[in-house]
Amino acid sequence: MHRGSGGSGEAGATWALLVAAGAGERLGIDRPKAFASLGGRPLLAESLDRLDRSPWVDAIVVAAPAGWEEPAILLAEELAATKVVSCVTGGATRADSVRGALEDVPDNALVVLVHDAARPLLDDAVVERVLAPLVEGFDGVVPALPLPDTVKRVDGGIVVETVERDGLVGAQTPQAFLAPVLRRALVGDLSEATDCASLVERAGGRVAVTEGDPRLVKVTTAADLALVETLLASP
Ligand code: CTP
Ligand code: MG
Repeated sequence: MHRGSGGSGEAGATWALLVAAGAGERLGIDRPKAFASLGGRPLLAESLDRLDRSPWVDAIVVAAPAGWEEPAILLAEELAATKVVSCVTGGATRADSVRGALEDVPDNALVVLVHDAARPLLDDAVVERVLAPLVEGFDGVVPALPLPDTVKRVDGGIVVETVERDGLVGAQTPQAFLAPVLRRALVGDLSEATDCASLVERAGGRVAVTEGDPRLVKVTTAADLALVETLLASP
């Protein structure tokens, strides 16, 4: 584990886990996706800066790819992101990276936000929206948007069925959780999990949905990166 320089790490606070440890295979550049260039700086800088400036966030743990911990810490220092408490080495899967980052969150933390560095255009209004239902008795909250396309289940190039689109949404991050609930959900086999909410659901937690943000596009391919670059330039 690599410690950053700043960070308060207050008890009872809201902690943000910024997962940036993926390889970015589908983007296919010469470095991990978190260090792809976006608007002239590493992609990771955008979400890190925004989380650091959010009045809702007290402390941040970054999960970086193996060998990229020092560049991540240097980036936090350059940005003067003083809420960054530590930078951990990510795991083999996203869920492993979340679990590793959560180990640096103190036991008395109240709320944990989990955000993908691959979604750079994080707006504070979404952070506010995902936190609100936690005080109404929910265990977790996901931001989501209705699916624009007709959804079909396919098998071997053949359509098996057209899925009723009513009631289907696409889940984004940041996802918010009561810290003890997330901790309990991150045990056992995590291999199927593509988000944290699914683990909390599996553990019997109540997960609310709030309105997502069309600007929270996830950078997967080079085309996504180009789109986010355009969105970044048009606030
Ligand atoms: N992630 C992570 N640790 C992993 C895998 C993913 O922290 N072992 C993070 C990524 O850095 C990203 C988010 O989880 O911010 C969503 O993952 P994804 O978009 O799939 O990114 P990559 O796994 O890097 O991309 P690819 O699947 O194309 O390799
Ligand atoms: Mg991936």
